[in-house]
Amino acid sequence: MGDPRDRARRLLLRYFGQLAERGERELYLSEDAARALREGLRDVAPAQHRAPEVRTAAPRKDTPAAKPSGAAASPRGAASSAASSAATAAASEEIPEPEVVDVTLAFSTKAASPDMFAEPSLLDGCSTMADVERTSSTCEKCELSRGRTKVVFGVGNETARLMFVGEAPGRDEDIQGIPFVGRAGQLLDKILAAAGIDRDDVYIGNIIKCRPPNNRTPLTNEIEACIPYLAKQVEFIKPTIICTLGLPATQTLLGIRGSMGGLRGKIYRSEDLRVIPTYHPAAALRDPKYKRPIWEDILLIKREYERG
Ligand code: URA
Repeated sequence: MGDPRDRARRLLLRYFGQLAERGERELYLSEDAARALREGLRDVAPAQHRAPEVRTAAPRKDTPAAKPSGAAASPRGAASSAASSAATAAASEEIPEPEVVDVTLAFSTKAASPDMFAEPSLLDGCSTMADVERTSSTCEKCELSRGRTKVVFGVGNETARLMFVGEAPGRDEDIQGIPFVGRAGQLLDKILAAAGIDRDDVYIGNIIKCRPPNNRTPLTNEIEACIPYLAKQVEFIKPTIICTLGLPATQTLLGIRGSMGGLRGKIYRSEDLRVIPTYHPAAALRDPKYKRPIWEDILLIKREYERG
């Protein structure tokens, strides 16, 4: 059998080896966990399995999970808050002040092209989110309606101060009618939990509500047909921060061309709203090099969220 602590150490070292192969050099842990780990690993880490640098910082009390929204704690929230206590510490890391760029959001009525609101009557009668969702459920404004199983309207706290906007539903989302439930969604859950952000405190939607065939990038006419739904969601939710996930969502909201690498790392301010773009979690599934910038962007989002 052997000493279970030796087995735990071996497993941990193997895990560090995997992290090293993926280029991860830092591990964020609560102070207690970091101390236990340092003591446990002293003298046992061979050079080829050198443990990543263990960083600690004092946990904060005012995390997004503690947002005074009155939202009841959920099982997912309870699980994620336990899982996230370590990374909550990371969120108090020094975060550089990013460039702030003033923009007019593409879907604000000031900037909308006539085409974007070609059928304003569709949504004009909607005075609640439920009205908008009901309207979207029978939408046939573009070809994507023919191939869909379900319209994926959006999910989450309708008074959220923080909203995530992705690209379009994939296969799992199309079946379940809920955004970000597939692999990319599971990674998003982990990232949020690691940052101490409760998924139940935020609202999650997409620029496109129906799945494009073979998950191809949405076409301009599809985005134009669908964006009024997102505009209404933002109008009702009134978030103070929107995190755009990936290039199509970022370019659509900001109305700015450019690469994700060039657009991220900044705060785009439109009146009371701040848009903070990051890579789509699917990018990190394809290539782990995107994990680090996503993490930095999430820490920035959390910092901005805590600032109010
Ligand atoms: N990718 C997205 O952009 N949105 C989803 O809902 C799922 C995957």
